[in-house]
Parts: sequence; C-alpha cells; structure tokens
Amino acid sequence: MNKLPQLFANNRRWAAATEQRNPGFFGELSAQQNPRYLWIGCSDSRVPANEIVGLAPGELFVHRNVANLVFHNDFSCLSVLQYAIDVLGIEHVIVCGHYGCGGVTAAYEQRPLGLVDNWLLPIRDIARTYATQLAELPTDLERADRLCELNVLFQARRVCRTTIVQQAWERDHPLTVHAWVYRLNDGLLRDLGFCARDLASADADFERTVGADTNRSNHQAMTQ
Ligand code: CO
Repeated sequence: MNKLPQLFANNRRWAAATEQRNPGFFGELSAQQNPRYLWIGCSDSRVPANEIVGLAPGELFVHRNVANLVFHNDFSCLSVLQYAIDVLGIEHVIVCGHYGCGGVTAAYEQRPLGLVDNWLLPIRDIARTYATQLAELPTDLERADRLCELNVLFQARRVCRTTIVQQAWERDHPLTVHAWVYRLNDGLLRDLGFCARDLASADADFERTVGADTNRSNHQAMTQ
C-alpha cells in the first residue's frame, strides 16, 4: 500500500523547521487560534491562501471551493462564515478569485466537465448578464479576466447579503468584506475596490466596480 511517504517526510521537515525557527510555536497554537481574517478563495492548487498573504498557521481562517462561489444554501460556506464572525470575531472577510481560473473559463466557454458544470452555472449567468460589457473587450484573455473579476464582485456582495453578515452589521460588529483577485503569472494581488462596511456601501461598491451593462433587466433578476 502506498502511504505517500514523501508527504510525511515533508511534514516532519516542516514541523521541525517551524519549531526551530519559533520554539513553542505548535504548543501555543494548539491552545487557541486567533485569526483576524477569513479567506474565501478558489480550490486551485496554485492559489495557496496563507502563502500569498504571508500569514502563518493560526492567522487566516480559510474556505475554498471551485471558483470561490458563495451560495446562500451552502451550509459548508455559511458555517465557516458564521463561525469566523460570531465565534472567532473576525473583522475582515476577503473573497479572492484569480485570473486564469479553470472554473470561470469552463463556464464561459461552456466546456462540459461533468458534475461541476452545475456548480459553475452562476458564472454562466454572470457572463450572460454582462455579455455586452465583456464583448467590448478586445481579446478572449481580457474577457476571461474580466469575468473572473465580475465573479468575485458578485460573490463578495453575496457574502454581504447573508443573514450572518447582516446581523453582524446590525449589532455594530466592525466587519469589512473585500473583493480581491490574484494573478497567477506574477503572484500579485489586486484590490477590486469593493470594501463593504454595511449594506449601503456594499451596494454602492458593487454598482461602481461592476459597471454598466445594457442587460439590466437580466441583472435585476439575478441580484441575489
Ligand atoms: Co480557480
């Protein structure tokens, strides 16, 4: 039976090096975690949340799925969000997509991948809603990049519309929801300018960053 010995060897080296750099690290960490941020990102192996923002174990609470989607009936994502805010007291939720996202590209090209096509359907809806805006861009690459950004902005606003975030704001929990995008080929993050501290700023930031399109009736139908 293959027990993946290489990974265990890597793990022993990492644990030893970490403990050597910071004696007592694991003992302290096992007693409590005190992360200041929740990261909602893509499962893509090229987008390792902690490494990108230079945070150690214990400093970043993480939820990842294919194409960093937020659904109001996804108990996994909602439970992470609720625990992060209500129990850990996190004050910053970062929704981070990435350019070159396979999920976004597959949805845009309507390339069948199997079960995951169902998961990605909301991205097709976003592409249809913003078809005019996307069509104005000169290249396929730019259209795909813009769709990655639009997807992040939609998901960030969805976070804001959860009962969890609404209730946190109602009781004056200082919570900010951010929308970022990461570029694989230079390793850099970009802030999309969505920085919501209440529902009004969420709607205002969303309208400003998503921009205009002619298919507004379609947009209104899918604002959730
Ligand atoms: Co991705």
